[in-house]
Amino acid sequence: MLLNREEMSFDFKGAKLDPARDRELLGWMLNQFLYGEMTGIQCGHWLYAAPSVEAARFLARQSVEELQHVDNFLRIMGMLGVAPAKPHGMVKFLSTGMMGNDWAEHVALEMAAGEGFVLMAFYAIIDTLDHEDAVAILRRAVKQEERHVDFGEQQTMKAIAGKGWLRRRLLGLNLVSMWGVKRLAGFMHTRLPADHPVLKNMPAFLDRCNQAAETRMLRMGLIDRPLAEMGGLTRAARVAEAYGGKALGALARLVTWPFRLLLPFVFRQKRLTDTYLEDPAIRALPAAPKAVPGAESDAA
Ligand SMILES: [Fe+2]
Ligand SMILES: [Fe+2]
Repeated sequence: MLLNREEMSFDFKGAKLDPARDRELLGWMLNQFLYGEMTGIQCGHWLYAAPSVEAARFLARQSVEELQHVDNFLRIMGMLGVAPAKPHGMVKFLSTGMMGNDWAEHVALEMAAGEGFVLMAFYAIIDTLDHEDAVAILRRAVKQEERHVDFGEQQTMKAIAGKGWLRRRLLGLNLVSMWGVKRLAGFMHTRLPADHPVLKNMPAFLDRCNQAAETRMLRMGLIDRPLAEMGGLTRAARVAEAYGGKALGALARLVTWPFRLLLPFVFRQKRLTDTYLEDPAIRALPAAPKAVPGAESDAA
């Protein structure tokens, strides 16, 4: 990963979440995670659109891991005596509403940024939850989430190489996600008790999440200077450009739909079933089996 554990951690100064005292709050938090893990089904969508055998292998494994995480959260909920319930609307917007239109958007927004954000929340729970068994389950799950974020970062860097327009578009979409996190911080600031040892830090924790997201964007090469040096107008222009690009894409799809309907084979997106023979993972054939000494004479 481009950021280490320390850069993705918040110092809660030893404050703890108590399974009994904070049961209601933990129930709310765990339900946000449960929804996030359920969005692992979206791996199926991206597996069908995977641009390489390497990506397809990764997504197949990731889908299994995300569904295991659903079970993990159900087990933790059982341990803490809380029940599955609906997530907050902003969490739904950030994890499903922001679902990418294409591969670059998926790896940059959902994997590098989105799962990067979830990973920070996992670290925060590990650092604060006063329940050994629940924390042990989370410690195992974060190893997998770290791999998901790493894959998102690597694939984003591959996707944007030499494509300034794509970098600008992904920056605009990232800025909207960061705005969503700020809104979530605002919601927490007004709704959560200000005297709780862990919760009083939530707005500062979400700020740190946005700082980490910005550092990741810098290291991936999505931006070449801090956002503060960019100016409000430039940032607004990036958001407008990103959504303008999305709107144009939607318009193009609308205009061309009769042709796509009549000539499906011309407009059909190429999939791995069309391209696998040119894929480096398939071309790198395993070494031919060594001849067994004496096998020829035996056969003769
Ligand atoms: Fe997960
Ligand atoms: Fe994940």
